Amino acid sequence: MDLGARIAGKHVVVTGASSGLGTHFATLCARHGANVILAARRLDRLEALAADLRRAGAASATAYALDVTDADAIASFVAALPEAPDVLVNNAGISAAAPALDTSVADFDAVTATNLRGPFLLAVETARRWRAAGRGGSIVNIASILGLRVAGGVASYAVSKAAIRQMNAALALEWARFGIRVNALAPGYIETDINADFFATPAGEAMVKRIPMRRLGRPEDLDAAFLLLATDAAPWMTGVFLPVDGGHLVSGL
Ligand SMILES: NC(=O)c1ccc[n+]([C@@H]2O[C@H](COP(=O)([O-])OP(=O)(O)OC[C@H]3O[C@@H](n4cnc5c(N)ncnc54)[C@H](OP(=O)(O)O)[C@@H]3O)[C@@H](O)[C@H]2O)c1
Repeated sequence: MDLGARIAGKHVVVTGASSGLGTHFATLCARHGANVILAARRLDRLEALAADLRRAGAASATAYALDVTDADAIASFVAALPEAPDVLVNNAGISAAAPALDTSVADFDAVTATNLRGPFLLAVETARRWRAAGRGGSIVNIASILGLRVAGGVASYAVSKAAIRQMNAALALEWARFGIRVNALAPGYIETDINADFFATPAGEAMVKRIPMRRLGRPEDLDAAFLLLATDAAPWMTGVFLPVDGGHLVSGL
């Protein structure tokens, strides 16, 4: 089965497309002929990416400034889309690495507003458009293996990703009857801006040794799972929380 071909011609919203995995997912979709809608706060980076993707032959690539912690901005963003998208990729996310005892209220709120409330509101606004148009669609929530297990120093992040796991299930349950599939991709560790500092430390190097495959992931390690969830390749799949992690979740205790 050619998973890439199934995203061709689709309209795909990717939040957090200005760096890391979001840039990668948007580029993957565009390379396979999708129309990509890029959203994040750093509009300059999105516009540069959109121009690159158009030069490389993307069907279309459009950039929108969006802060996913701003509920009004989310409603305006979804309303401003020229047509209801086929796929929403809830990818924007932050971490606030700190022991729980040192986590400020502001940091906890920023992590949960970005990683949980933002994806929830984007999913709801997008589902409302789908309902109004009498059609369904696919939502891919980018969670993390930290939604299933814990590591030290990232309590607020792990809490937000575990909550995404339940959000994913709850929305899948409510919206399956409308033809809206809701699935989560839960990556293991892949070096991006969110964690590059950590992997430069001895603790980061030690963590890589605990991954059964003995290496960090590469963005392209996620491609098949991402396309499976995003497209209609698996039309009866919803509510799934799919880890792709080099075996990290099954590492020995
Ligand atoms: N890398 C990993 O090992 C890993 C593993 C598991 C899960 N993940 C998840 O993958 C997703 C992408 O992370 P990444 O590794 O690619 O990190 P990254 O390179 O730091 O990218 C994070 C993206 O989120 C956007 N973002 C942050 N706050 C935002 C806000 N308030 N509004 C809109 N966009 C916002 C950023 O764009 P702006 O700053 O321009 O807004 C950026 O594009 C996150 O949900 C992360 O939790 C990553």
